[in-house]
Amino acid sequence: MAKTKTTFFCQNCGTQYAKWVGQCSACKEWNTVVEELVQKPEKTAWKTRSNTARKKAKPVLVKEISIEREVRLDTFDLEFNRVLGGGIVPGSLVLLGGEPGVGKSTLLLQIALKLPYKTLYVSGEESQKQIKMRADRIRPNSETCLILTETKTQNIFQQIEATEPDIVVIDSIQTLHSDYIESAAGSISQIRECTAELIKFAKETNTPVILIGHITKDGSIAGPKILEHMVDTVLQFEGDRNYVYRILRSLKNRFGSTAELGIYEMQSGGLRQVNNPSEILISKNDEGLSGTAIASTVEGMRPLMIEIQALVSTAVYGTPQRSTTGYNAKRLNMLLAVLEKRAGFKLGAKDVFLNITGGISVDDPAIDLAVIAAILSSNEDIPIEKGICFAAEVGLAGEIRPVQRVEQRILEAEKLGFTTIYVSKNNKIGLKNTKIRVQLATRIEDVVSGLFG
Ligand code: TYD
Ligand code: MG
Repeated sequence: MAKTKTTFFCQNCGTQYAKWVGQCSACKEWNTVVEELVQKPEKTAWKTRSNTARKKAKPVLVKEISIEREVRLDTFDLEFNRVLGGGIVPGSLVLLGGEPGVGKSTLLLQIALKLPYKTLYVSGEESQKQIKMRADRIRPNSETCLILTETKTQNIFQQIEATEPDIVVIDSIQTLHSDYIESAAGSISQIRECTAELIKFAKETNTPVILIGHITKDGSIAGPKILEHMVDTVLQFEGDRNYVYRILRSLKNRFGSTAELGIYEMQSGGLRQVNNPSEILISKNDEGLSGTAIASTVEGMRPLMIEIQALVSTAVYGTPQRSTTGYNAKRLNMLLAVLEKRAGFKLGAKDVFLNITGGISVDDPAIDLAVIAAILSSNEDIPIEKGICFAAEVGLAGEIRPVQRVEQRILEAEKLGFTTIYVSKNNKIGLKNTKIRVQLATRIEDVVSGLFG
């Protein structure tokens, strides 16, 4: 009989306590510490096969380690490959996090259905029928994708041994439970144990495993932070569920850069890869409307043209309202203060609404100048000429500051047919033979006089 033991875990952050406390000393949350029955695992669920039993490791001189070209499994999804750094590394654990309903199950089922390798899709959330219905919506006819609805890791490993898949998808880690731990599925100790078992399986058989993880209200992946440390790659799928665009980014990647980004569009038949995001984020409006400005931003490694809309109107109530969608409200207040103090625009008694179209959210400071241009255009009710875009940060003194990767931004703007781009005079630009006119500015006034005469 295994020795039973109980431990107290904070359900919010995973900190472990020897006795119950009312407030977690790590994350300061109240009433989150819960007693969990932990049974010392005498063996883990994934049994090492005798013939693959680990050899004892010996130290090797660095120069003697040979590196063959690493093989990666192609996922047949360009955006997913890009974010992973060129495909899945065999034996790696990938964690995909995201809010409920954002499309995590859809994305992974879609990839599983497309893969020509034998794939085992384990779902603890939906029945086989539900998954079949979803698969029919997504459509690629797969000969190699197996569906298993099971939550107990011991049974999952039994099926894995019976079917020997090339890749395993688990939807979701919070629904799994292991017999060796007595606490409920989704609790800290269960998540930790199940992940450890899966890691052991992945490393020993060189099979990649993709886990889906739920995220908590504040946006972090539910379960202990340790989950993120245990896996090799953490991906986040984000997007407003009321909009169609979804962004896949990597928060941690042991085998590649975390600066890459994948963009999808949610359609009635699954997720579509978006190869030229700029074209869809800008509305094709021919008549000039006041209050819109285009910014050239960089998300991850990719340049992206986005449209910013502002509405400035006289405040009806005593306190003017400031409201933003997809942009930091504090930054908007700061820019309004700069406009008031440094450029003499009286916006103190006006309501200001700001919106980044397409439902995406941007925190690149290089869109500051476009935000200011949109606000002034709405305030003056003068549209900004078609073909003008912006890429510069605005400082507290009202100065136009340089931004990184300015050349990439200029080239993207040129590619999409823009004729003028405003950037900071302090940006070093080594581009030659560009058709686009690069307008250098040092102060807000330079831009205002250029735009509104
Ligand atoms: P889902 O993958 O279940 O989200 P998660 O696993 O992250 O909770 O996505 C559910 C949403 O996606 C749901 O609102 C319906 C929508 N959807 C489509 O728009 N098109 C489709 O082809 C599919 C399968 C889902
Ligand atoms: Mg799901």
